[in-house]
Amino acid sequence: MKHVKLGVNIDHIATLRQARGEKNPDTVEAARVVYSSGGDMVVMHLRQDRRHIQEADLERVRTDVKGILHMEMAAVPEMEKIALRVRPDSVCLVPESPRELTTQGGMKLDGKRPDIAKVIKNLSAAGIAVSIFTDPEPQAIRAAHNMGADSIELCTRKYAESWGKKLQAKELEKLQLAGFLVKELEMELHAGHGLDYYNVMQVARIEGMDCLNIGFSIISRGLFVGLKNAVAEMKRLIQ
Ligand code: PXP
Repeated sequence: MKHVKLGVNIDHIATLRQARGEKNPDTVEAARVVYSSGGDMVVMHLRQDRRHIQEADLERVRTDVKGILHMEMAAVPEMEKIALRVRPDSVCLVPESPRELTTQGGMKLDGKRPDIAKVIKNLSAAGIAVSIFTDPEPQAIRAAHNMGADSIELCTRKYAESWGKKLQAKELEKLQLAGFLVKELEMELHAGHGLDYYNVMQVARIEGMDCLNIGFSIISRGLFVGLKNAVAEMKRLIQ
């Protein structure tokens, strides 16, 4: 079977650190553990409200740790500027709204979005691979392709929420069909949001899946079994 990469989102290491405003737990230490336990890349979402990851986290992980760094960000000039300075290997453009607890779904790409196309163009020109977080909807996937994105990250939130319910098969089928389209367009196929140790396998087995980005479940499990074991267990499950 094809090797599915694991991106480990360490935002909630920073959430815990921010709770006391001190140095620990340190995102650099977390990034080192991720890479040494089988994680293929470290994922960090620099939100406009800076609720968890700070610019310094991104900078230090980039300079102090050897490994692939994937940044999630809103498609706005402030974030573009930071990405062009920090130079992550890749970026995923996500929608953001100030009061949400976490990203609610994929980018809405109906209508012309020259602002997003411009961010994609500028990041690509700097050699940063660009992914767009979309719902498993053909229109959004085609729009992302037309704007020059390299990859699509399918939002698995609805699938995760339907786990154990009647809707689950339908949500999985939507992801599979969207995956076909992504591959037909010769783009990389990523997925993430709400994936855990129970629901991950079916998504990992979607034809053509290249990478899964997982945060909350791994960091939560890490509290009880250690981050190293939590990452290694997830990696085993998706292979
Ligand atoms: N992918 C994207 C685009 C996200 O915004 C998030 C949440 O930050 C994730 C993956 C990871 O989601 P979770 O923390 O639920 O695993």
